[in-house]
Amino acid sequence: MMVREMVVRDRPRNRAILGGALEILSSHQRFEPRRCYDRPMSDNELGALNMVDEAAARLRYSRGAIILHWAIAILIIYNLTTGLLHDTLPRAAFQFHISSGITILTLTVLRIIWRLTHKPPPFLPMAKWEKGLAHLVHFCLYVAMLAAPLTGWAMISASVPRPKPAVQGATQPLPPPLSAGPAKPHQTLIWGVIPLPKLKPITDVGKGPDGPAKLKETHEQFEDLHGDIGWIFLSLLFLHIAGALKHQFIDKRQQLARMGVGKAEPKHWDTAA
Ligand code: HEM
Ligand code: HEM
Repeated sequence: MMVREMVVRDRPRNRAILGGALEILSSHQRFEPRRCYDRPMSDNELGALNMVDEAAARLRYSRGAIILHWAIAILIIYNLTTGLLHDTLPRAAFQFHISSGITILTLTVLRIIWRLTHKPPPFLPMAKWEKGLAHLVHFCLYVAMLAAPLTGWAMISASVPRPKPAVQGATQPLPPPLSAGPAKPHQTLIWGVIPLPKLKPITDVGKGPDGPAKLKETHEQFEDLHGDIGWIFLSLLFLHIAGALKHQFIDKRQQLARMGVGKAEPKHWDTAA
């Protein structure tokens, strides 16, 4: 990729980078580039490419976006771990799964609103296919960040309350806590405080004579879907982390600094022989 091409084709997007490049130019006198993209480049081109690269590395997401990214990431790692290992881990580990999932949903909606109303920093210079793949993975991550909690919510909205077991040998009417009776709908409380309503389109499935059977079937369908999305999510996350680490450690770019990890220090392209 040549700098000239990039500036001409995508001028508004790169204005900020070039502003940063000029800033860097004033603090750096000498460049030692030993690497180029696809053909030998002139010293001027390489110098300019270095500046663009370094300036781009200085551009990071806003503080709000960084906080949201890491808050959501921590909760998702918790939910994926407790979800995928829920047969193995102690029951107590799962107890915040639903509260955490609904919090992820809320924060994701905020994150998407932020994303639609703010311009993210331009990508670091990278191959076209890498940029395309990064965009695709980010988009799929947003879809998974909505789909995972929504299918979980749909699943519990379709849960059929279990009838209380009859108390053996009871001949007289028993006081309420001991008596067999109609199932009491279970109320889910988010973080022990906020009641989570059931999703109406799902509870409507349970109306009618064969309602409970249909509801059970719907519950099973969402349970399967929720589990499949968990695995898809894990694969996307693997790609996302692998991409970030590749740019950081193999391409020696300051990728993680864009998301608030470490400080972006201007560096020369002096890594490849
Ligand atoms: C665990 C769940 C995670 C999710 C759901 C997630 C999701 C995302 C999304 C959707 C973006 C795109 C931001 C945009 O809208 O432009 C992003 C960016 C980013 N993420 Fe993550 N992420 C997660 C974990 C991680 C981890 C563990 C790392 C570190 C290895 C990481 C490093 C980054 C970096 C460096 C960027 C900035 C990419 C750029 O240069 O534009 N993320 N993340
Ligand atoms: C990003 C958020 C979420 C992720 C990544 C996630 C992930 C998972 C995964 C991977 C499983 C295991 C599924 C299986 O093996 O069948 C699971 C189970 C479960 N999830 Fe979630 N979940 C999330 C949010 C939610 C929400 C919001 C709820 C409810 C409102 C929920 C309710 C459940 C329940 C009840 C189970 C147990 C299902 C069973 O007993 O088989 N999840 N979750």
